[in-house]
Amino acid sequence: MSKDTISELKIEKTAKSKIGEVDFENLKFGSVFTDHMFVCDYKDGAWQTPEIVAYQPLTLDPSARVFHYGQAVFEGMKAYRDEDDQIWLFRPDENFHRINKSSARLAIPEFPENYFYEGLTTLLKLDSAWIRKGEGNSLYIRPFVIATESGVMASPSSEYKFIIICSPAQSYYGGKVKVKIADHYSRAASGGFGFAKAAGNYAGQFYPTRLANEEGYQQVIWTDANTHEYLEEAGTMNVFFRIGDKLITCPTSDRILDGVTRKSVIAIAEKLGITVEVRPIKVSELLEASKNGMLKEIFGSGTAAVITEISSFGYKGQDTDLPVLEDSYASKIKKSIIGIQYNKSEDPFGWRYKV
Ligand code: COI
Repeated sequence: MSKDTISELKIEKTAKSKIGEVDFENLKFGSVFTDHMFVCDYKDGAWQTPEIVAYQPLTLDPSARVFHYGQAVFEGMKAYRDEDDQIWLFRPDENFHRINKSSARLAIPEFPENYFYEGLTTLLKLDSAWIRKGEGNSLYIRPFVIATESGVMASPSSEYKFIIICSPAQSYYGGKVKVKIADHYSRAASGGFGFAKAAGNYAGQFYPTRLANEEGYQQVIWTDANTHEYLEEAGTMNVFFRIGDKLITCPTSDRILDGVTRKSVIAIAEKLGITVEVRPIKVSELLEASKNGMLKEIFGSGTAAVITEISSFGYKGQDTDLPVLEDSYASKIKKSIIGIQYNKSEDPFGWRYKV
């Protein structure tokens, strides 16, 4: 992690904070934003002097590439306040590297590490009053990059904006989630960019997810585009399956998001003595395990969703309820991960980053 500073980071504070207008007890995920944002422009082949300014709308030419070709990537991170009022990030290096990996795949120039850390930590210090104490409260951080050059020619932009906005958050899902296993639509294909946090990966899911919503499911578990036989990823989460005492998740690939929470779940589960298998898993194996009473749990992992338990899954019109467990792997792992994030427990992995 770079310790360099950007001597010329410009800060223009808002004239009036909006914090007094916010009902922190009833936050709808991602709908309220803090007072400031970080902005850095790319032009003439270089990232320019970054700025922190009041949260405000952007003015872009209607022909800006992002509107036409979706040249846009983003990240999801969270900041937490502990009982001693210290602010923490969770594995920010992972998000920094992943946004540049996503950018590279979408022909977007990579962002400098020192700009990212100084911009982010300065922004968090400025808007720290928005980070509330208490388990479940956090500040969701959304770094993103958009192509801003005007002109509708289908080629990479030569101008970009790297922006960080922040939103006070509680839980993403209200409780357990009912999912549909995809048997027709696909999220990502081999050789594509399913691994990237690219805006288009999410846009392409909205329509099939809405169809699933109409059938009473909240999310889709995507299967591989070639055969629809292998379980891959849920729309906003990676997925884990507990069969017997084993925890199984599919390997990352160019189709799967290399989730920060996913890799943390694997490390914590192993530390808790749980056998983790990272291997392809077929829908047929899931159905068989369910029939034999061996399918104990399914849960999703993600920054926004943390660990979200699945209550039932639908496949080709047939719904299967999952057992309700007293001491689920999901709850044990969630407890450990939250303990680290909120500085309530030891951090044997060195994942916490003090702001
Ligand atoms: C996250 O967990 O940060 C995500 O990116 C999911 C998001 C689409 C809400």
